[in-house]
Amino acid sequence: MDCEIKLCLVIIFLFSSATNCVFGEPQVPCLFIFGDSLSDSGNNNDESTDAKVNYKPYGIDFPSGPTGRFTNGRTSVDILGDLLGFDHYIPPYANTNGADIVQGVNYASGAAGIRNETGTHLGQDISMGMQLEHHRDIVSQIAKKVGSEEVQQHLNKCLYYVNIGSNDYLNNYFLPEYYPSNGKYNADQYAVALVEEHSTYLKALHDLGARKFSLIGLGTIGCVPHEMIRHGKKLCVEEESKAALLFNDKLKALVDRFNEELPDAKFIFINTAIMKDDSLKFDMMNLICCKVGSNGQCIPNEEPCKDRKMHPFFDEFHPTEVLNNATANMAYSSPDPAFVYPMDISHLVKL
Ligand SMILES: *[C@@H]1O[C@H](CO)[C@@H](O)[C@H](O)[C@H]1NC(C)=O
Ligand SMILES: *[C@@H]1O[C@H](CO)[C@@H](O)[C@H](O)[C@H]1NC(C)=O
Repeated sequence: MDCEIKLCLVIIFLFSSATNCVFGEPQVPCLFIFGDSLSDSGNNNDESTDAKVNYKPYGIDFPSGPTGRFTNGRTSVDILGDLLGFDHYIPPYANTNGADIVQGVNYASGAAGIRNETGTHLGQDISMGMQLEHHRDIVSQIAKKVGSEEVQQHLNKCLYYVNIGSNDYLNNYFLPEYYPSNGKYNADQYAVALVEEHSTYLKALHDLGARKFSLIGLGTIGCVPHEMIRHGKKLCVEEESKAALLFNDKLKALVDRFNEELPDAKFIFINTAIMKDDSLKFDMMNLICCKVGSNGQCIPNEEPCKDRKMHPFFDEFHPTEVLNNATANMAYSSPDPAFVYPMDISHLVKL
């Protein structure tokens, strides 16, 4: 009997070391998430906005069903949390129970952007600036729990995941009927202004104790099905993808600048625009999986496609879990500096 227990322990030990310590502590004590619908896990549910999806068929492959996640299953950052060894999903700011905030909070909000006005033609959202205010509130709550001496040490060790900016294009710059930015800036000037504003938020986050930053670049937004359809095209809208690449170039340059100016911190840039995974096989005649309304979101309660793995997008904007999985796995671990610069997340968290 004694022997069997020992054998069992050995097996558990081997198994846990082979799978990123699923039984042990996560690789970072905490994960804070800033962003938009790609990361939102329910913050918009009680906002007055069209950009919320806490209804079926969203969440059809998520254990607890619809939660406000804009996909069929897990988001990229959910999967990243799994890879880092968290045994729970980081709770949305709108729905923390108070006990769980020490291990991180998700502030992301669908339709939100770096600019305050972004996405507001859809209703209320929580812009990057407001997300930072929410983090300020959480930091003071954590200080009460762990003590004001320990709080900085704790916050220094966390991973800060920031994935925002798509809506500053899709729900701002490329909707000139609602927003003036397109008339005020050319694409290059707009990218400069956005990254400049973003840098002030990231600096403020650093002032609040953040030291490990994973900054996610924009995807090829002109290839989002809604944009192709809106322009009556079967091909990507080049002008939109090019604008996103300008943003990415400047975000990457910001990573270099901050790594010099803030030597106590480390910033990395994840270039999702060049993500590719040859193991994925999609039905390119049917990019999306659910029946959508004119806003590009799934129509409530309609049956989605049967084989979600065959479609890169769930609705007209948002990737399916299988694509989120590929993105998260590459961001976590990739040898390619064109994709993870200057290192991947698995190395960032070990610093
Ligand atoms: C955007 O909103 C934030 C948070 O409410 C505020 O601090 C900031 O001054 C606003 N920025 C602009 C440019 O209006
Ligand atoms: C997620 O991606 C990893 C790495 O590419 C792969 O090994 C795994 O099978 C994928 N999981 C799912 C559920 O698609």
